[in-house]
Amino acid sequence: MDPQTPLLWVLRDNLQLTGTRYGCGKGLCGSCTVHMDGVPVRACQLPLSATEGRGITTIEGLSEHGDHPLQNAWREHQVPQCGFCQAGQVMSAAALLEQNPKPTDKDIDAAMSGNICRCGTYQRIRAAIHTAAAADKGEDKEGQR
Ligand code: FES
Ligand code: FES
Repeated sequence: MDPQTPLLWVLRDNLQLTGTRYGCGKGLCGSCTVHMDGVPVRACQLPLSATEGRGITTIEGLSEHGDHPLQNAWREHQVPQCGFCQAGQVMSAAALLEQNPKPTDKDIDAAMSGNICRCGTYQRIRAAIHTAAAADKGEDKEGQR
């Protein structure tokens, strides 16, 4: 593909990995968040050329059976409303827990501030991150589940 093609288009249109969502297309909402070498990035703003030799993880790759501690906690707290933003929310939260396994409310708010939810599920997101942090004994690192 054209090396300037945003990663989001490659994921959704070429690889059929449609879990990553197109929200604003301008780097403002966070719904397209994926990991590049473990760091959360906006797939709508990242040209394909910038991903060469890098490891990309989408929501589909977060866990083999959808049972990452965050995914379990998301179900327990029934976080999603419409669901549109939630893949991006989970990916940002996963990157946070990789860096900070026991985040405070303030840590969570800082790490998640770039992910917008028009349904206002922020309270449940925060609670679910705390639940996942408590459940995660450090033995289920991304990609090793
Ligand atoms: S779609 Fe990428 S930040 Fe909104
Ligand atoms: S759950 Fe609807 S936008 Fe977040």
